[in-house]
Amino acid sequence: MRTDTAPTILRQDYTPYPFRIPTVDLTFDLAPGLTQVHSRLSVERIHPEAAPLVLNGEALNLISISIDGHVLSPEHYQLDDHQLILHPEKAAFTLEIISTCRPAENTSLMGLYQSGHSLFTQCEAEGFRRITWFADRPDVMSRYTVTLQADKTQFPHLLSNGNLLHHQALPDGRHQAVWEDPHPKPCYLFALVAGDFDCREKTITTRSGRQALLQVYCDKGDYPRTAWALDCLERSVLWDESRFNLELDLDRFMIVAARDFNMGAMENKGLNIFNSAYVLADAQTATDASFEAIESVIGHEYFHNWTGNRITCRDWFQLSLKEGLTVFRDQEFSADMMARGLPDSAALSARTVKRIDDVTALRTAQFPEDAGPMAHPIRPDSYQEIGNFYTATVYEKGAEVIRMQHTLLGEPGFQAGMAEYFRRHDGQAVTCDDFVNAMDSVYRQQAPGKDLAAFRRWYAQAGTPRVSVDLQYDPQTAQCVLTLSQRCDPVGVEKLQNPAVAKPPLHIPFALGLLGADGSPILLETDGLSGETLVLDLTQTTQTWVFKNVTQRPVPSLLRNFSAPVIVEYNYTDEELALLARKDPEPFSRWEAGQSLATRCLLAMAGKQGQSGTAKAAIDLLAATWADIAGDASLSPAYKTRVFTLPSERVLLEKMSPINPPALALARRALRRQLGQALQDTWQTLYDDMCATLDGQTYSPDAASAGARALKNCALAYQVAATVSGALERAERQYYNADNMTDRMGGLTPLVNHAPEDVKTRALAHFYDQWQANPLVIDRWFALQATASSTTVADVQALMAHPAFTLRNPNRARSLVFQFCLNNIQGVYCEAGYAFWAEQVMALDQINPEIAARLARAFDHWGRLVPKERQAIKLQLEKIMQRPSLSRNVYEIISKALT
Ligand code: ARG
Ligand code: ZN
Repeated sequence: MRTDTAPTILRQDYTPYPFRIPTVDLTFDLAPGLTQVHSRLSVERIHPEAAPLVLNGEALNLISISIDGHVLSPEHYQLDDHQLILHPEKAAFTLEIISTCRPAENTSLMGLYQSGHSLFTQCEAEGFRRITWFADRPDVMSRYTVTLQADKTQFPHLLSNGNLLHHQALPDGRHQAVWEDPHPKPCYLFALVAGDFDCREKTITTRSGRQALLQVYCDKGDYPRTAWALDCLERSVLWDESRFNLELDLDRFMIVAARDFNMGAMENKGLNIFNSAYVLADAQTATDASFEAIESVIGHEYFHNWTGNRITCRDWFQLSLKEGLTVFRDQEFSADMMARGLPDSAALSARTVKRIDDVTALRTAQFPEDAGPMAHPIRPDSYQEIGNFYTATVYEKGAEVIRMQHTLLGEPGFQAGMAEYFRRHDGQAVTCDDFVNAMDSVYRQQAPGKDLAAFRRWYAQAGTPRVSVDLQYDPQTAQCVLTLSQRCDPVGVEKLQNPAVAKPPLHIPFALGLLGADGSPILLETDGLSGETLVLDLTQTTQTWVFKNVTQRPVPSLLRNFSAPVIVEYNYTDEELALLARKDPEPFSRWEAGQSLATRCLLAMAGKQGQSGTAKAAIDLLAATWADIAGDASLSPAYKTRVFTLPSERVLLEKMSPINPPALALARRALRRQLGQALQDTWQTLYDDMCATLDGQTYSPDAASAGARALKNCALAYQVAATVSGALERAERQYYNADNMTDRMGGLTPLVNHAPEDVKTRALAHFYDQWQANPLVIDRWFALQATASSTTVADVQALMAHPAFTLRNPNRARSLVFQFCLNNIQGVYCEAGYAFWAEQVMALDQINPEIAARLARAFDHWGRLVPKERQAIKLQLEKIMQRPSLSRNVYEIISKALT
């Protein structure tokens, strides 16, 4: 449908729903071709006036409507493609609607759909309306009873939310299951699953002594790959009890793996549905990174049971209320798991590795978003399609905004604020303001005279703030004067609407330390505060602090542990950065300093098309610093690997103006080669040491062994990049002999990027042959080729013709098309690349608008590119825009990109 007229929904237009729907009783007659849904709703008018009952519905076929048993004839209701409007006279009544839908034809994967031989639902945000007509909004909460009927051989498992009341055979080889969810919920948390599964389960005892059954369902044959997921689920339950004082409120908690899934996973009450990529893992098929991602997504969905399900969102503008908070919780869960059982300093380093990875993800996806045409506050003010707002801003920046509240209140204060939030709002659908109010009530008690008033602007303002730092030192008075100034330039639509308006200052918790010339910490003393790290409250546009008794010119260690999602501007010398990278006792800033030095080298080289002459001194300094770090026995292998990982092209792009992606890609390759050569002995030592560490151990995904493998494979990749003699052969041997997927990929990746054609082809053919029956592993095979530096548009097109490729499976589309368009800088930044991208956006839009809209964002930064590329991309954007049948999803993205 042409959508030029797609309405913009405004946050300020919120009005409560005029009816309550206390109970929902659904009966499904399930079949992939045609499913019949019988919905019985109890409805009560809240509003005294005669507001109509407006129900949402899409892609449904109506059979009948009745009120209190009386069938309505068509003149008693209005029905169109997206709404059913009734004018009930009674204040309370039972509404029954019978309708059908077609799961097998549903390629959008929203609502009820078929994946493999099974049926699944995805209702968040607005998918329930594709199942039956309903008030599809999160502030209408109901108690659900669900009856599922289906063929018993085809669908032996029939699952829905809550508890199983009965299960019985029906005539004609059919059966039925009746489920009841005792917790009132919005319809976006409804779920059903029907299929033939394996199930791994375990009964646990929750803190108050209740028994709960934990289950992980998967396709037949995948059972051996579900042990890790069940273990992660159990640890999630225990962690939420111990760290957040939140206990499982269900007798039964189920996870089901689906091969076709738009996102990562979904927190449906008691019945989480997951992309199989975030459930299935064993040593042979999953990398360390997958094991870690599974732990974090299982945690995330489980933690939603309280933050999202018990307290939900009033409207979708409040999405970050549940997502920002739940991402913060899953980040803390992963950090606690990594630090488990370690002595203090090692625990700090382990937590910092997680922090580095989270900040890197923020800079890779969210900083660019906040500088582009889709920039929005974590609580947006408007949208055309809510599916487009499941963004890095709402999730990852949202988590940073929660983390800052944690920093301001401290762990005990934050937990007191959480307890207050649940005390006030358990069972309700609320706003981000309600959350901050609860935190603010604790903050005001803790810090009389302070409040979160300026802090709240984080919810309203888009754009990444910049904090510039000025440091003056006076040896005479032994005083150091620090001035912090913040600004946030207009972004996205602001640029057009009111570019001149100054945004009010934010409350930025700014953590810093000072180091002496030898790297030793200086005690900070100012206004009654003292310590080696201080968290300053920057609340004004410009603020100054004076530190006393500073007996030598200090080097500042800024924004420690990334205490706020901002960009810091300070003119370090290269030598100061090297000092911090070697000596900063705060491990995050230490890593950051090394990255800054590397960034300088890369930007200088990119300016010269990859030549390193101009950056020679900085590169030498970087290499010398890395050599020291490599030999520092106090640092973990995982941490060292982060140090030795150059910033990605996507992070670097944001620091260049105008952006010249191919030049950056060249520079990055050249610097890798050079560091590979300069540190030959270092890489050899690290490789040997890590092999020795791992020798004789059977594979385990724990953080320590994962760290050792990461460092080993990082060293190997540098050796191959530098064409060190014997390195390719070593990579080849490692690939063929590996006993786990991490090492196998660690060998194969450098081969695919650097080996002669025959070696590479043989390895790829071997890989395909070995793993062709496992879709998640074949996704890796596609992704590896999609991102290889020599891969061209023609290569990708050839891969799309491979029998294993399909655009219909989101994981497969992501592994090839998205990987190429988003991460193959050398391959995609050319006219053929842009044309390919536009074609795929349009093809996907016919199948799955939500996925198409994500791909449509690949060139959000087009307006900042060098002119030639900018023009070429603009042509493609216009071509997409002219397409007659764009979805609302893609329309919103492309129209915003073009304004
Ligand atoms: N609430 C889910 C999660 O973050 C994401 C669901 C998003 N669904 C969608 N169709 N956009 O855990
Ligand atoms: Zn979530």
